[in-house]
Amino acid sequence: MDSEKFGQMMKERREEAERILQDYLPPVSGSQQTVLEAMAYSVLAGGKRLRPILMLESYRLFGGSGKVIEPFVAAIEMIHTYSLVHDDLPAMDNDKYRRGKLTTHAKYGEAMGILAGDGLLTYAFETAGAAFSMTDDPARVGRAIQVLARKAGIYGMLGGQVIDVESEGKPGMTLERITQIHTLKTAALMESSLMIGAILAGATEYQIGQMEQIARSVGIAFQIQDDILDVTSTQEVLGKPIGSDARNAKTTYVTLQGMDASVQEVKRLSREAVDTLRQIPGDTLFLEELIRMLTMRNN
Ligand code: IPE
Ligand code: IPE
Ligand code: MG
Ligand code: MG
Ligand code: MG
Repeated sequence: MDSEKFGQMMKERREEAERILQDYLPPVSGSQQTVLEAMAYSVLAGGKRLRPILMLESYRLFGGSGKVIEPFVAAIEMIHTYSLVHDDLPAMDNDKYRRGKLTTHAKYGEAMGILAGDGLLTYAFETAGAAFSMTDDPARVGRAIQVLARKAGIYGMLGGQVIDVESEGKPGMTLERITQIHTLKTAALMESSLMIGAILAGATEYQIGQMEQIARSVGIAFQIQDDILDVTSTQEVLGKPIGSDARNAKTTYVTLQGMDASVQEVKRLSREAVDTLRQIPGDTLFLEELIRMLTMRNN
């Protein structure tokens, strides 16, 4: 696929994700106006919309064509955004910029930052619940909600953040532990995206497992790349401060293994993901290209 075609496809998919998000975000009005504004501020600040795009693509890959995917597309980005809002709080990474703008707590105060995150997490599940009235296969929707919850919670993203925070400034970090952190804090939401697309489209158990495996490799690679960019990029390009990991005394793949090994590992994991993807029948070209693009991303 040439880069112009890929760019065009990426643009179309990002626009579709933006439209769905606009449709499903709660209106900013009433007594809760401030927190609703903070929620909209955080979600609509921009961002690559990678998880919604992965979910839509997986749904279509397995033949899905209805609208039942839409509440989940909105929900995954709400959950991802909540994770960023809380990740940036003073008690966590204490960062002031995100997606090129002030972080939610920096703009609305710490209490509102916490509440906006809580609001996004809860509203994500309210939104996903709307899918029950959009399907004649409620069992699939139930399963998708279970995956969404599991991959976001204690055994997923949240669990990874716990180990990440507890490891700060401590010696004795191992490769195994770093991989566990990356698998949970970052890959889990991507696993959720690719799995939910497959589940709602009616893919087989085996295929759902393949999508989980692909997202795991992509997610771990994505976090190593994020840690690379935290050292090598600039705030202008990233939209968030660089040097956050060093400031918080984090041991990352980069500090543990060095820059060259990190770059190689991102490439290896991406090849692994593409190899699994190619075993899946159907048009996987766009997803392949997206995975390759992520290894070269600079923001
Ligand atoms: C940032 O995710 C958090 C990590 C898992 C590294 P993204 O890089 O996808 O952030 P946005 O959504 O584009 O802002
Ligand atoms: C956080 O990893 C991943 C989340 C679950 C939010 P980082 O702390 O490295 O993410 P950034 O760099 O702030 O986006
Ligand atoms: Mg963090
Ligand atoms: Mg952070
Ligand atoms: Mg980071």
